[in-house]
Amino acid sequence: MNSLQSADKRFVWHPYTQMRDWSKWDNRVIVRGEGFYLVDSEGNRYLDGTASMWCNVWGHGPNEVVEAMKDQLSNIQHSTLFGLASEPSARLAKKLVGLARGMDRVFYTDNGSSAIEVALKMALQYWHNRCRPKKEFVSLEHGYHGDTVGAMSVGYIEQFFGAYKPLLKKVHRIPSPLLYGSRFDNEKDLMGWCLEKAEKTLKKLEGRCAALVMESGAQIAGGVVIYPRGFQKEISKLCKKYDTLLILDEIATGFGRLGSMIEYAAQKSQPDIVCFGKALTAGYFPLAVTLTTEKIFAEFLGKYSDNKQLYHGHTFTGHPVGCAAALANLDLYEKRNLMQQIQQNSQYLKQRLTEFTKSDIVGDIRHKGLLAGIELARKGKPLINLKKERVGYFIMRESLERGVHLRPLGNIMMIIPPLAMGKEELERIMDVNLELVKKLEKL
Ligand SMILES: Cc1ncc(COP(=O)(O)O)c(C=O)c1O
Repeated sequence: MNSLQSADKRFVWHPYTQMRDWSKWDNRVIVRGEGFYLVDSEGNRYLDGTASMWCNVWGHGPNEVVEAMKDQLSNIQHSTLFGLASEPSARLAKKLVGLARGMDRVFYTDNGSSAIEVALKMALQYWHNRCRPKKEFVSLEHGYHGDTVGAMSVGYIEQFFGAYKPLLKKVHRIPSPLLYGSRFDNEKDLMGWCLEKAEKTLKKLEGRCAALVMESGAQIAGGVVIYPRGFQKEISKLCKKYDTLLILDEIATGFGRLGSMIEYAAQKSQPDIVCFGKALTAGYFPLAVTLTTEKIFAEFLGKYSDNKQLYHGHTFTGHPVGCAAALANLDLYEKRNLMQQIQQNSQYLKQRLTEFTKSDIVGDIRHKGLLAGIELARKGKPLINLKKERVGYFIMRESLERGVHLRPLGNIMMIIPPLAMGKEELERIMDVNLELVKKLEKL
């Protein structure tokens, strides 16, 4: 690394990072991408095993998405959606409502957390505008929806957000269907119990609950919880029964991560509001969306003086370069038949995961599509700390030494590769994970 880079990197305050330890770490400076590899300032190459925080689809480097972004930049780099329309945002909105069954309108933001804020505001104001104010929210334990105030409230994790509690709204939590570590020995009974609790909560809040918020298909950041078949569909029915809006968060699970383009359709559930982000632009540009139905949209119409309009908007809302990136990305999904490739790689992943079941430090394995969590436990207890360091740091450091970037969630090894990654690269990621489990067994 040259001296300029080594001096520069100390000024950056990194997210979710204990900065006291950061300078002691041999942290690398990424300077370019080559296919599915990240290349550091010393020329070392690392397979992008985290899909650059779960958003990367095609790897790194030039492709049709970059071309579309360049074209857009040469037309106009940015124009606002406040009072003006833009061609790429209009075309993308049409494309998205075509993909997302039952959705009619698209509201743009520039990150997933903000898309969730918009969803919460939409739900509150929908009831407000109907003169039937409902102010409570329900969400699932282990849920994560982002780091802004509303998103932290519905996806509350004490360890992360305890210090920010004075900012947050109290939200009613219902159990998440995680079998591992529960008192149930089968998913059916667990699911029955979770649904019973959900119904009890919605009944108690009847007439007061604006929306139930949950990740669609699976929870990721809260510990890779894959919903049992029928769970989301039943929650969707309960929301209808108790006249509560269903907000689905597909920011991390939509566009193929779990093997379906639109996960809520695969789950046979119907949201009133749904959020997408991450893979929407394949990681080429920060963009997120909140989609809703004509029925909800209609409640925001009225005379200006009725004050029914949605008071939300960011400087970069619906950025034309991001919209152009998303359009080109979604075209590539079709052109390259990405969903079929995901299905095949998911089968491969499933098969490789069986190799981990033999280890006595693997407590549980949860998998769907191109998402897997391998939960590490020793003698029934979560394996979080080693003698010298945290398991998470051990995995990250050792994987980098093997030319792969992995980032576990506490004691859960995460397999979450770029969606279009080839079998060979996936094989390397699985080999490294297995090697690390074997090394951990002996520590
Ligand atoms: C399910 C879910 N919702 C929301 C978010 C927040 O998205 P962003 O990081 O773009 O704000 C994330 C981020 O990981 C997520 O996993």
